[in-house]
Amino acid sequence: MPQPASIQVVAHAPKKPVELIAMVIGHSSARLPRVVEAAAARMAKGEGPAREMLLTPEGRYLLIKPEEKPWLIGGEAWRILGGRIAEAVRTAKVTTAEILVGGKAEIPALVEGLILGDYRFDQLRSGKEAERKPLTIHLPGHSGIIEAIAAGTATARAQNLARELCDLPPNLLNPEIFAKRALAELRGLSVQTKTIAGCAALRRAGFPGLAQVGQAGSAAPHLIELHWRPRGVAPGARSVRLALVGKGITFDSGGISLKPGDKMWEMKADMSGAAAVLAAMTQIARDKVPVAVDAYLCLAENMPDSLAQRPGDIYKARNGKSIHVDNTDAEGRLVLADVLTYACERGATHVVDVATLTGACVVALGEGIGGLMGRGEGFLELVRSAGLDVGEEHWPLPLYGEYRELLDHPHADINNIGGRWGGAITAGLFLAEFVPDTVKWAHLDIAGPAIRTGGWRYYAKGMTGFSTRTLVNLARKLA
Ligand code: BES
Ligand code: MN
Ligand code: ZN
Repeated sequence: MPQPASIQVVAHAPKKPVELIAMVIGHSSARLPRVVEAAAARMAKGEGPAREMLLTPEGRYLLIKPEEKPWLIGGEAWRILGGRIAEAVRTAKVTTAEILVGGKAEIPALVEGLILGDYRFDQLRSGKEAERKPLTIHLPGHSGIIEAIAAGTATARAQNLARELCDLPPNLLNPEIFAKRALAELRGLSVQTKTIAGCAALRRAGFPGLAQVGQAGSAAPHLIELHWRPRGVAPGARSVRLALVGKGITFDSGGISLKPGDKMWEMKADMSGAAAVLAAMTQIARDKVPVAVDAYLCLAENMPDSLAQRPGDIYKARNGKSIHVDNTDAEGRLVLADVLTYACERGATHVVDVATLTGACVVALGEGIGGLMGRGEGFLELVRSAGLDVGEEHWPLPLYGEYRELLDHPHADINNIGGRWGGAITAGLFLAEFVPDTVKWAHLDIAGPAIRTGGWRYYAKGMTGFSTRTLVNLARKLA
C-alpha cells in the first residue's frame, strides 16, 4: 500500500482555533484582524511581497497570492499555491491550518497542490529526517466542497503512488517487486489481472522484446495486464476501448551499451511510464470511469552481463518484423513494441504508450514538457487537451515519414536506433511500426518531466509521477 499521506484536507470548520490561517489574496472576503487586513489590501494592489507571514494577537496569518503567469494553465497556479501553503505550514512547525478561500477557487487543484506538495520520499530515512507529523488543513464549507476535496485527494494520492514507485531505489523495486506491488494496489478494485513472468514464458507468449531486454536482469521481466470493464456499460454499447502501455524499466544501465556513470542513478525512474499507467488505473477503477481500459506494464531491468543481449543481436518481433539491436540502451522501444502489437490484437481502438524513452526528447522540449506523437489527429488533440486541462504539457512532434529510412538496416527489417538527430522522432517512428495504422495511437515521451530530480513547482526533489493526471482525464474524456 502507498505510504499514508501525512496531510489531510477536510471540509468542516475547525473545532478548536487552528495554529495557522492562510488567506488567499483576491479569493476570500473573510474578516481579518486590522493589521492583517491592511497587509492584505497592500498585497491585493500588488505592493510588497507575494507572501507574508504575520503574527498577531489573534493568531498566525499567512497571506499569499496565486501566481498569474500565462503558462500556468489547467489549475497549475492553484497547485503551486497549495504546495506553498503546505511548505509554510511545515516551516512554521504547526499541524493544523485553515485556508480562507472562496468558492471560485479551483479547489481540486488546490488540494492536489497541498498533497503533492507535502509528499516526501522519506521512508528510507531515519531519526529526525523521517519525522513528519500528520497535518490537518481545513477548507471553508461552501457548496460542493466535499466532492471537490475528495476529487483532489484521489488524484494526488494516485499520482503520489506513481512518484513513490519512481523514487524507490532499484534494489527495492525490481520487475518482480513492481509486479507484486501493482497487484496489491489493485486488490478489491474489480480489475482483472494477468501476469506473464520470466523470459521463457514471455518468449512463448510472443513478447521477445521484454525477454531480450530483461534476460540479464537481477529479477525476471514481467508483463502485467490489467483490464477494467465498467459495470452497466454493455460490451459493444460503447465502441471505445482504451489501452495504456507503460515502459517499466526498473533500472536502465544501458545494458552492454553501458551508460556513463554521471546521473545513471536517475534511471531508477525509467519505469515512470508504467508507474503512471498503474496509478491512473487505480483511480480509473476507484472512480468507476465508464470506459473499458486495458493497461499493460512492461517490466524489465536492463543490465549488462554474460546473459545480456548484445549489440548486433537480431530477433523477430511479435508482428513478424526482424529487429537489429544496434544499441542495447535503446531498450524502451523493444519492450513496448510487442505489447503495442498485442494491445491492438486484443481490440484496442485507442492506444496510449507512456515512456521515459529518449534523452533527445528532453533536448528538444526541455524538462517541463513531454513529447507527443502518434496517429489520428483528433485523438492526439484529445490527449493533448486532456493534459492541458490538468496542467500537464505534452507537445506534438512530427512522425515524419522521411526519417523512417534512418532506421533501415541491411540485415533486418528495422534497426533500433536512428542516428544522432531527431532521436525522439525516430523512436516514435520505431514504435509506429508495431501499431496497425487503423488504430488511434498516442506516444508520450516523458523523459523530461517525469525525472525532475532538482524539484519543480510543487514537486520536491525526486520524481514527479508525470502523466498520471493526463491519463485519468483522458479516460474520462473518452467515457
Ligand atoms: N531511458 C533512456 C532515456 C532517458 C534519458 C530517460 C534521460 C530519461 C532521461 C532510454 O532508454 C535511453 O537510454 N535512450 C537512449 C536512446 C539512444 C541509445 C538512441 C538515449 O536517449 O540516449
Ligand atoms: Mn536506455
Ligand atoms: Zn530506458
